[in-house]
Amino acid sequence: MFALTSRRVLRRVATFVGLVLLLGSVTGPAGPMTAAATSARGAPTITKVPWGTVGGQPVDLYTLTNTKGMTVKITNYGGIIQSIDVPDRRGRRANVALGFDNLDDYVTSSPYFGCITGRYANRIANGRFTLDGVTYQLAQNNGVNHLHGGNVGFDKRVWAARTAKRRDSVALVLTYTSPAGEENYPGTLTTKVTYTLTDRNEIRMDYHATTDAATIVNLTNHTYFNLAGEGSGTIEDHVLELEARRYTPVDATLIPTGEIAPVARTPFDFTRPTAIGQRIRDAHPQIVIGQGYDHNFVLDRRPEDESLKLAARVSEPRGGRVLEILTTEPGIQFYSGNFLDGTLVGTSGRVYRQTDGFALETQHYPDSPNQPNFPSTVLRPGEEYETTTIYRFSAGHR
Ligand code: GLA
Repeated sequence: MFALTSRRVLRRVATFVGLVLLLGSVTGPAGPMTAAATSARGAPTITKVPWGTVGGQPVDLYTLTNTKGMTVKITNYGGIIQSIDVPDRRGRRANVALGFDNLDDYVTSSPYFGCITGRYANRIANGRFTLDGVTYQLAQNNGVNHLHGGNVGFDKRVWAARTAKRRDSVALVLTYTSPAGEENYPGTLTTKVTYTLTDRNEIRMDYHATTDAATIVNLTNHTYFNLAGEGSGTIEDHVLELEARRYTPVDATLIPTGEIAPVARTPFDFTRPTAIGQRIRDAHPQIVIGQGYDHNFVLDRRPEDESLKLAARVSEPRGGRVLEILTTEPGIQFYSGNFLDGTLVGTSGRVYRQTDGFALETQHYPDSPNQPNFPSTVLRPGEEYETTTIYRFSAGHR
């Protein structure tokens, strides 16, 4: 997974060049603003306001605005994308990310809205895995299983933040060092997630981590989308296409059985654009277990291929908004918001009910540490965990 293939080296060189350019215009507290950062008209902007405290630590809400009508708000609490304002085909803007209008609701009640999930996104069976002969017992915070990093995962940490600007993008660079033994994971994990809003209406997420002892890592972003606007009702009419001819069926506790099954002739076949709701009431045993879709899809790529590729495309027929997801990851969890049960009041004061949002979480497969036939999620000292995912928005014409 983290082998230095030639493709990977090239990508890393490209990232390095990008980083140098980025650092050239970093707006540190005392650092000089570049011409690009200050050029008034037509430049993307990034600003922040205080948003409260968590455990005595101050939390901010950052607003990233590009020159193409898109505004994204991100807090350094959990690296949560709080809102994504994006125009539809008539230029009308709406917030397409489910969430809350205040920090307290994120702290007390969030079903992982918009956050960075880690150290291990999704489930680990019985919260247990063995690495180099040592067995680690993690929190069983989802029935008998471990979910999204445990009781206090990366979604509940206050991340250090700095901002960066380029001519055609703005970025929020979040860092968090997870001490060895935190949530019982081995190794100090030094983590960096860079959110970049580009003038191509993309949110680019670059994930980077290193460790001082062998560990496991699987990071993703857990935004729930509704492309008609959060609080506007169900996403069952959204049309989904996945670049995946196979998926990983699960047991009754949503742990993969280990099988990698074809989607052909099942409700899991999204290889052609299909409305999410079309087969969501099918009596297929996997739909019954998930109470809808809550499954990892195996992206169509060779195991050693870590290039950035299209994984998913979702379109909303009424307003015409389109979301494309590109990733370097081998899998994507499609979750149709099955556990939204009308108990949460969202950002615009509307209640979220089942299927009012969907998540598409780019990732390594759930429970990989216990599944020898899945791509490895082990990270060792000297290796670099490096993945990229892009949410690209556009608005189609009829
Ligand atoms: C993931 C899981 C779901 C659910 C959500 C968060 O998508 O696969 O089962 O736990 O996160 O509510």
